[in-house]
Amino acid sequence: MKIAVLPGDGIGKEIVAQAVKVLDVLKRDGLKIEMEYAHIGGAGYDAEGDPLPESTLKLARAADAVLLGAVGGPQYDTLDRPLRPERGLLRIRKELNLFANLRPALLYPELASASTLKPEVVAGLDIMIVRELTGDVYFGQPRGIEIRNGERVGFNTMIYSEAEVRRVAHVAFGIAMKRGRKLCSVEKANVLECSELWKEVVAEVAREYPEVELSTMYVDNAAMQLVRNPKQFDVIVTGNIFGDILSDEASMLSGSIGMLPSASLDEHNKGMYEPIHGSAPDIAGKDLANPLATILSVAMMYKYTFNDPVTAERIDNAVKRVIAQGYRTGDIWTEGCRRVSCSEMGDAVIAAM
Ligand code: IPM
Ligand code: MG
Repeated sequence: MKIAVLPGDGIGKEIVAQAVKVLDVLKRDGLKIEMEYAHIGGAGYDAEGDPLPESTLKLARAADAVLLGAVGGPQYDTLDRPLRPERGLLRIRKELNLFANLRPALLYPELASASTLKPEVVAGLDIMIVRELTGDVYFGQPRGIEIRNGERVGFNTMIYSEAEVRRVAHVAFGIAMKRGRKLCSVEKANVLECSELWKEVVAEVAREYPEVELSTMYVDNAAMQLVRNPKQFDVIVTGNIFGDILSDEASMLSGSIGMLPSASLDEHNKGMYEPIHGSAPDIAGKDLANPLATILSVAMMYKYTFNDPVTAERIDNAVKRVIAQGYRTGDIWTEGCRRVSCSEMGDAVIAAM
């Protein structure tokens, strides 16, 4: 298994280092793993003047899976848009055709008090958000800022083809089949034609999955329902921008955005694995970040790309154990728990393995 390791910016290096410790343990125990590092985001810009250097893309294409930390930082915010770190991330998703982004929101019982919601609202929470990742207003053309009638206007295009909707719908129905067989498609069909088509195509695909109970919800209502009664959801499928927003919201149900991994898959289940959080420049380099989302992303890699559920579960269980043992980074710390650094959390996980 060849893994392209792209730490990126900010806390990216620290959290990826902990995930690599986990991979090293697996390697020691006999799994064949090759890791190769490359730059992405601001690190790519600093090293080669490009947030997605050609060499990085080449490595990512050749690898079986990609492990990514995070991209972005205030020092890059004034760069031309194509040179910004975020563009590197969007480009690698697009170039590798990683259209299906799986973002689970799972609450560990011990972290119920770390959530800002009442424990009874979030206890037992287990949602999977399937976010379309290579279309929508993120990539639609035309886009830009220009002068019209003597003033500046900014514009983007929200667009989905039926093929794009269909393939992500199939992924979502497939996942629903393996879980609670409930799928909620989230859109804004009361206002947007793009969403109207989305809704129609999802309903067409639903005919192939009669065992799955499909519901639809407008995105504003979904945002409200997620904090009102999140346990009504099993699998959610939605477009790129709605999924971006709702997955951040869902992360807080589980206590901290520092807990949530993600998988971004192409049609052959080749994938890129990254925590859903960003580069957190404010705590970068201080060994304070929570590495668990990145470590759990490695578990997802074994589950979805390497078809090795046993290894995935070994990692998941190790994380459960350190949480049960009371290890907490600052973001999930509550009175009476053991406050640890990023690297200490990594050490605790490999000890638990
Ligand atoms: C995410 C992030 C990215 C996105 C940014 C960094 C471009 O917010 O992965 O959710 O908007 O997709
Ligand atoms: Mg986001």
